[in-house]
Amino acid sequence: MHWRNEYSLGIVELDDQHKQLIGHFGAIEEAIRQGQSWSSIYFLVAELRDFARFHFTCEEALMRLFDFPDLRLHTAEHAHFFKVLAEIEKNSINKAIERELVEFLRVWMTKHIVGSDRGFAQHVLSGAAVVCS
Ligand SMILES: [Fe+2]
Ligand SMILES: [Fe+2]
Repeated sequence: MHWRNEYSLGIVELDDQHKQLIGHFGAIEEAIRQGQSWSSIYFLVAELRDFARFHFTCEEALMRLFDFPDLRLHTAEHAHFFKVLAEIEKNSINKAIERELVEFLRVWMTKHIVGSDRGFAQHVLSGAAVVCS
């Protein structure tokens, strides 16, 4: 998965973080494509999870700052991401999960960035969200 202009939300900081997030995912895809060991892939997944934690924390802080009405729903989507990722990692003890992992990450990222994150970005960019000027 590579960054595409259609993923852009028009907020530079968020776009930069999404580029990094997709970059982490791209590294996982590449490691799987090369047939690297699960420990190598697991390390890259841990890096992605750490970055996702940082990114989600930034987004949720902005949502509070800009009084975003769907904060609770959006935060639940972020929490669900970690839950599913943890389940996939747990399953990796018993079975090959590479395909499941790649499919989950690709679908989640595409849907979340162009759907939920865009909704938040539009709220910020609409100006209705500016609480202090
Ligand atoms: Fe995001
Ligand atoms: Fe988000």
